[in-house]
Amino acid sequence: MTNIDQAALDGLTQRATEAAQNSYSPYSHFRVGAALRLSNGEIVTGTNVENVSYGLTICAERSALVRAVSQFGPEVRVEAIAVVNLNNAASPPCGACRQMLAEFVLPDAPVTFPAGGGARTMTFSELMPLAFEMKLK
Ligand code: THU
Repeated sequence: MTNIDQAALDGLTQRATEAAQNSYSPYSHFRVGAALRLSNGEIVTGTNVENVSYGLTICAERSALVRAVSQFGPEVRVEAIAVVNLNNAASPPCGACRQMLAEFVLPDAPVTFPAGGGARTMTFSELMPLAFEMKLK
């Protein structure tokens, strides 16, 4: 893992919790927040934004990611991630978010998320061992 200590992860979790307060989730009532620590030292947060056409919903993790790239450009890299929800439920990042994050997250980045009975922290590469890549010959 990168040299992100537990205090830094706790701070990131706090930022994710604040972001979750802004969740727009009238359909699922599942309020998610994500916070990304970037290699430039910035922290960017996101929340889930649902839509009546349910499939258009964007998760908190992808909200944060598109915000980070929009604000800081395509060279931005993510060195730690915190995900929370306000529903007291387990919520590791979904598969779609893992694939999107894979493009920008350092393999050793710690990812902390609610698991049954408390937070769990794993590296991004443990969470997403075989992301799709396109290597044209
Ligand atoms: N959701 C997230 O924000 N992140 C995830 O990784 C999984 C699910 C949101 C999408 C939807 O608004 C609600 O949680 C229920 O699926």
